[in-house]
Amino acid sequence: MDLKSLLAHEIKAQLLPDWSENVLWDLIETPKHSHLGDLAFPCFQLAKVYKKSPVQIANEWSVTFTSPLFTKVEAVGPYLNIHFNRAKAGKEIVSDILGKGKDYGTQTFGEKKTIVLDMSSPNIAKPFSMGHLRSTVIGNAIATIAEKCGYSTEKINYIGDWGTQFGKLIVAFKKWGDPEKVKENPIAELFVLYKRFHEEAELDPGLENEGRRAFKLLEDGDEEVTELWKWFKDESLQAFKTIYSLLGVKFDSYNGEAFFNDKMDEIVTLLQEHQLLEESQGAQVVRMDEGNLPPCLIKKSDGATLYATRDLAAALYRKRQYHFDEALYIVGQEQTIHFKQVMTVLKKLGYDWADDMKHIPFGLYLKDGKKMSTRKGRVILLEEVLQEAITMAEENITLKNPGLENAPSVARDVGVGAVIFHDLKNDRLNDIEFSLDHMLTFEGETGPYIQYTYARAQSLLRKAGETYSLKFDGLDDAESWEVVKQLRLFPEIIEKAWQHYAPSVIAKYLIDTSQSFNRYYGKTKIISEDPQKKSRLALVQAVGIVLAEGLRLLGINSPSEM
Ligand code: ARG
Repeated sequence: MDLKSLLAHEIKAQLLPDWSENVLWDLIETPKHSHLGDLAFPCFQLAKVYKKSPVQIANEWSVTFTSPLFTKVEAVGPYLNIHFNRAKAGKEIVSDILGKGKDYGTQTFGEKKTIVLDMSSPNIAKPFSMGHLRSTVIGNAIATIAEKCGYSTEKINYIGDWGTQFGKLIVAFKKWGDPEKVKENPIAELFVLYKRFHEEAELDPGLENEGRRAFKLLEDGDEEVTELWKWFKDESLQAFKTIYSLLGVKFDSYNGEAFFNDKMDEIVTLLQEHQLLEESQGAQVVRMDEGNLPPCLIKKSDGATLYATRDLAAALYRKRQYHFDEALYIVGQEQTIHFKQVMTVLKKLGYDWADDMKHIPFGLYLKDGKKMSTRKGRVILLEEVLQEAITMAEENITLKNPGLENAPSVARDVGVGAVIFHDLKNDRLNDIEFSLDHMLTFEGETGPYIQYTYARAQSLLRKAGETYSLKFDGLDDAESWEVVKQLRLFPEIIEKAWQHYAPSVIAKYLIDTSQSFNRYYGKTKIISEDPQKKSRLALVQAVGIVLAEGLRLLGINSPSEM
């Protein structure tokens, strides 16, 4: 049992028999400083029940509340602070972790519920940007955390493969494209054509119309343009899949925008029936009075549909297909208005489940303090970043551990893990300064630091020759107690990360846990002739379990040697 549950149990048994342990568990806090106690129970809520001040209640209880698990119970203002018997409480906690293994921290509150995640969603014929990286790794971590909480998940890669831009690209390809060049290097070459279109269109505004016409042909299923579009799409998907396999991310669906081309009529009809469509400069829009939102564009004057139209059709489809309890859109914060509009339109149509749709926004990657933009060419290509990170990790291994078996696969785990961790350790809304050097240092708050701590724990266990049947009989030094307390936080951390859709909560926790373990390791000779040797090794094993599981929740592998 974890420490909080132990306390909740004792409080119910001795003080508040009518309260549920869950409610008590939620009330229990962790004091800011460890010398004040391991846990604290606030007495505010009891004041009304007992018609006494919370301070008075805390004082009285501090005398009567006792247990062999506690060494001290004291009143600190309105709080009842508990100091645990390290050896006894530690034994409960560590045995629990060793018994559960990687199931430690698993929750059940999400069972029988489904979460749909709209994530990654790059645009075909364009480079996979760092923004799409953020959506991919944040989405993947949130999905894994959701699964740890019992939810079923559907990870949808809503590929950007539809819209006027593909009309433009088709025009550009027909005018200036060289099929051979495109075959050789599809994404880069198509991207060049796309940029050229925009340059030329500034001089010749007629081009824009040609682009629109070409998209209309695509929407109507014209054979020639459809062929081209399919080709662009296949090439792009192949390139994206290389990246996903490096990142170790899998999707349940690749239904992108084009998939909804034949599913938008229903939405348009519904909007007409509800008399929500209005004409504005030839286009069809839904006016929004709420929250100063601009009108939501549904159809252009030439009848072409828009990004929002497709998202509306997609939402309806997903609700029917997956019966989701929540639909999360992991998309940059620059699209906040778009999602507000989409959800408002659905609400206007009477779909209350639109309240279960949530935009999970995130900040930008910056290069030298400036936004990386695809248009301006200040773009960093993700595949290059990953390759470079892997190469740097490889060099590091050659230097530090030249004889390492399966070095290439370890370098991959470390390089890719560094990139993922660098993203996830930040609060999602913050902008991130891009720096490969930072990501890859072995000290400080990095992925390799956590992986290295894990590998160190495994190496200790290997050296001791005792990976199995370890038992924890309790330790009472201050450093090991800090580690134990840190480990018992894991279940709460997972719940908090889920509630806030914040993988950073787990990333920060892993940094703290690694630091507390490394402090312990620095102070204590773990493999020794002392009678505590077994318990120390058991603690090392418990640390390993939590670090590996925490990294897994973030989408990062943990090599056992590096
Ligand atoms: N493809 C879009 C982009 O790169 C992101 C799509 C996000 N998802 C959605 N359902 N709109 O900007």
